[in-house]
Amino acid sequence: MNEAGRRMAAEIAEQPGIWQGLLQADPGQFDAAAAAIRARSPRFVLLLARGTSDHAALYAKYLVEIRLALPAGLVSPSTMTAYAARPDLQDVLVLAVSQSGGSTDLVDTLAVARAQGALTVAVTNDPSSPLARAAEIGVDVSAGTEQAVAATKSYTAQLLALYLMLERVRGGDPAPALALPRLGEQVLQLNVVMAEHAARYRFAQRMVVTGRGYSYPTAREAALKLMETSYLSAQAFSAADLLHGPVATLDAAMPVVAVVSDGVGGRLMDPVLPRLRATGADLLLVGSAPSVAAAPGGVVLPGGVPEELAPLLEIIPLQYLALHLAVGRGDDPDAPRGLSKVTRTV
Ligand code: F6R
Repeated sequence: MNEAGRRMAAEIAEQPGIWQGLLQADPGQFDAAAAAIRARSPRFVLLLARGTSDHAALYAKYLVEIRLALPAGLVSPSTMTAYAARPDLQDVLVLAVSQSGGSTDLVDTLAVARAQGALTVAVTNDPSSPLARAAEIGVDVSAGTEQAVAATKSYTAQLLALYLMLERVRGGDPAPALALPRLGEQVLQLNVVMAEHAARYRFAQRMVVTGRGYSYPTAREAALKLMETSYLSAQAFSAADLLHGPVATLDAAMPVVAVVSDGVGGRLMDPVLPRLRATGADLLLVGSAPSVAAAPGGVVLPGGVPEELAPLLEIIPLQYLALHLAVGRGDDPDAPRGLSKVTRTV
C-alpha cells in the first residue's frame, strides 16, 4: 500500500494484539467497576458518547438490555449542557464511552449526572483525560495511542472492555472472549478481498449498511467509517427500520452491505435478504451466518464466538473496505477532511 492510509492500516492490524493484551491484563479494573455497579443496583443505564464511541455505546446498550435485563438508553447531551435540564438520576448508571475522553459535552454531562446522583463510569483510552477524571470509576481500554484520525483499534478495544466489565456485573464467564485474538488474526487476512470489493464501489455516491441485534452497531460504525474516509453518503439502518420505509430508496445503483451474524440477529435477517435482493440492489453479505457462505461473493467470517462477540470480528473487513475505498478514490483516510482526533462539541 502507498503512504495514504498507512496509519489506519497499521492500527486495523493491531487489533487482535490489543484484545490479547486486554484479556491477559490484570482484570482488577473490570472487577472493581463491576463491584461498584452491583453495589448500587442501578435500575436504568444511560449511555453517553459521540461518533465511533457512540456505536460502542450502542453495543453496550444491547449487552445491558439483553444480558443484564436492564433498560438502557442513549443520552442527548444538549439536554443537560445547553438546555440545563437537571434530571433525577438516583439509581441510574451513566456509562460514558470515549476514545479521547476530551469532548466538552461528555465531560460536562457526566459532571451533571454525577451531581444528580448517578453512578458514573467512563470507559476511555486515556485514563488521565478530563472525562476519566470526572467519573467516579474509570476503565482504560488500553488500545495505545491512536494516530489515525479514523478510529479503528480504539473501537474494538471499547467493545471488549465493555463486554468484560458487563459480563462481570452479571456474574457471567467472559471466557468465550479468549478465542477473539486468534479469530481476529484470521479476519485480518480479508484485507486483500476487501480491496477487491472496494474497487467495485469506487464510483459509488451512496451506500446503505444494515444489520440487526448486535450487528446493528457494526452497521452504524461501518457507515461512519465510509462517510468520514471516503466521503460517500453511507446510511445505516436496522434491517427492521429499513423495511419501514427506506427500502424504497434501494435500486440497482445502490450498494447495500448487510452484516449477518450467526445467531438471533442473523436469523432476523433471513426474511429481509430476499426483500433486499428484490430491489436489484448490489448486495454484499458480511458475517458468519450460513446465508453469507451461500451468497455469491459473500465475505465469510469465522464462527466460534457467541453472537455478542461477533461485532469485534465483523467490523474489521468493513474498516478495510473504508480504508481501500478512500485510497482508491485518491484520498488519505489518515487525514480525512472534516474530522480531527479530538472533536470538542457542546
Ligand atoms: C470516528 C471518529 C470520531 C470519534 C468521535 C468521538 O472515526 O474518530 O467519530 O469517534 O469524535 O470521539 P471520542 O471517542 O474521543 O469521544
